Amino acid sequence: MQSEFWHERWELQQIAFHQAEVHPVLPKLWPRLNPQAGDGVFVPMCGKTLDMRWLQAQGQRVVGVELSPLAVDAFFAEAGVTPVRTPHGALESVQGGGVTVYCGDFFALKPEDVAGCELIYDRGSLIALPPQMRRDYVTHLRKLFPGGARILLVTFDYPSAEMKGPPFAVTDAEVREFYASVELLSSEDVFAANPQMRQRGLTRLQENAYLIAF
Ligand SMILES: C[S@@+](CC[C@H](N)C(=O)[O-])C[C@H]1O[C@@H](n2cnc3c(N)ncnc32)[C@H](O)[C@@H]1O
Repeated sequence: MQSEFWHERWELQQIAFHQAEVHPVLPKLWPRLNPQAGDGVFVPMCGKTLDMRWLQAQGQRVVGVELSPLAVDAFFAEAGVTPVRTPHGALESVQGGGVTVYCGDFFALKPEDVAGCELIYDRGSLIALPPQMRRDYVTHLRKLFPGGARILLVTFDYPSAEMKGPPFAVTDAEVREFYASVELLSSEDVFAANPQMRQRGLTRLQENAYLIAF
């Protein structure tokens, strides 16, 4: 997916992926990562998700990355936080309220930017990317975490011929191709709860959550 696509989504506020509440999977399944207070959690392609505020409130240090400055500004404004902005190579570090968001391209991040994070919360990153970019994403994630990490991954699966992503369908087999240690924690039929997907031609929509270690 080209960056222009995402900038345009944010400019036009076509952000149906954004949830007005914390994602229900997060409070339910986050303990399965065995997080300790003070542990760093990386939230790739974070948008302005409230999930970062929930993670911070659990005592985690939160580090996100997001392409759109509109999303980053909205995240802090909606949290009532005036962040500190610092140029950071090709990115900008935007920091406040226990959350650091790097504004810029995920692929420009370096391992030192996520140093101290061993936990990853991926909701809406892998499924935001077409097939080849998903492979590049996982390759870069591995470079960012040379010592390994634990991921709570939330994906969508649906008959891929029925709809052009994003969100893209990510099958169970693909997740297992990317990562060696994969446990399916939950699989929910979320078709009825996503009427806009029915309008886009889907007949089935499953939301899967995985615990991954690499
Ligand atoms: C499907 S949305 C998910 C947002 C968020 N994770 C959530 O749950 O609401 C994907 C997000 O990834 C951002 N994005 C896309 N490509 C990116 C890239 N290469 N680097 C950083 N962010 C990116 C988009 O701007 C968008 O906000």
